[in-house]
Amino acid sequence: MKVLSVVGARPNFVKIAPLLREMAGRPQLQSVLVHTGQHYDARMSDGFFEALAIPAPDFNLAVGSGSHARQTAEVMTRLEPVLESVRPDVVLVVGDVNSTLAAALVAVKQGIRVGHVEAGLRSFDRSMPEEINRLATDAISDDLFASEESAVSNLAREGVPAERVHFVGNVMIDALRLTRPLWEASRVFADLGLDRIRRYGTVTLHRPANVDDPRRLRQILGALHEVARHVPLIFPVHPRVRERLMGADVTWLGAAQPVPERGIVCTDALGYLDFVALVSRAAVVLTDSGGIQEETTILGVPCLTLRENTERPVTVTHGTNRVIGVARSRIIDAALFALAHPPAKPGAPPLWDGYASARIVDTLLGAAVEVAA
Ligand code: UD1
Repeated sequence: MKVLSVVGARPNFVKIAPLLREMAGRPQLQSVLVHTGQHYDARMSDGFFEALAIPAPDFNLAVGSGSHARQTAEVMTRLEPVLESVRPDVVLVVGDVNSTLAAALVAVKQGIRVGHVEAGLRSFDRSMPEEINRLATDAISDDLFASEESAVSNLAREGVPAERVHFVGNVMIDALRLTRPLWEASRVFADLGLDRIRRYGTVTLHRPANVDDPRRLRQILGALHEVARHVPLIFPVHPRVRERLMGADVTWLGAAQPVPERGIVCTDALGYLDFVALVSRAAVVLTDSGGIQEETTILGVPCLTLRENTERPVTVTHGTNRVIGVARSRIIDAALFALAHPPAKPGAPPLWDGYASARIVDTLLGAAVEVAA
């Protein structure tokens, strides 16, 4: 069985790493990897391949940045001849980025079976580009691999036949488990001079809704400033946000410069291992990312989600996540509360045990046996 996996952006790399590792251990499987090139900076791409021991891609489509339409179209145009020449039995797509939807569309039109990992998540907010990618990818995929029970119910409500939906758990947690010895040994604390700081918070912001409108970004930064009077807030900055922070009242950390005792402290985007290490010891995390809500759930770190909704409700019911929006007083109150009340170590959501990839590969191989019979 030939499985062609498609990745494009930072969170995709984390999700595919444990799946590729699992497939490498199955002699019945031949694995081909395509990188669309949606993310291309060393910090956003190569560094993740290295940290997660992902083999070099067999194909790099080098699509780069662009509008949603252009980026999606470029992935489709450039992937089509690759699928025609490789002729895989299955195309595996992960997550909800533009590359995910583009690859699923090309594959399904060539009559290739499509597996979607992280299917069924819904924020019910169609102003998010990821929500459109999720809805459309799920509508055309054959095998829908769900990370949490809400996703299974969402797909049932949308009329997807139950035999196409597989509740397998969360591959992000597989990646976290597999790399634990590496991120536990990260030098990020020494590098940032954090050893001398008793407590710190971590911030990430990159959703268009939060960073593209200067007023909204200023409002969020204003609230973070108040929190940063109590603990330094370390903010590794996604490249699309860097320019928008120019002129803002934040400290940019230079090389070999230690984190100050207070304030919003910006660094370049961090690699996977350093970032997970930073999150693992944070007193509080404030974020608009999806994956970080999941990682904090397992790491037992309080997470405040700076959005009005989450497509990952299990992180609220079983984890440390609180969805708080972006109102100034809400951010300040929730962060100060989290600092004053460290959470009890939570239990893990169902099947977030580090073995989701094995279940996915078993399902793919099981279905192949059925077809052969
Ligand atoms: C994409 C995903 C988002 C995911 C995020 C993780 C979509 C619709 N969005 O958002 O769901 O949470 O990745 O990071 O697919 N840029 C660089 N270097 C890079 C990549 C991007 O400088 O290596 C800059 C460019 O200015 C680019 C901008 O970031 O225009 C946006 O990149 P893009 O891939 O379109 O979306 P993300 O915001 O990264």
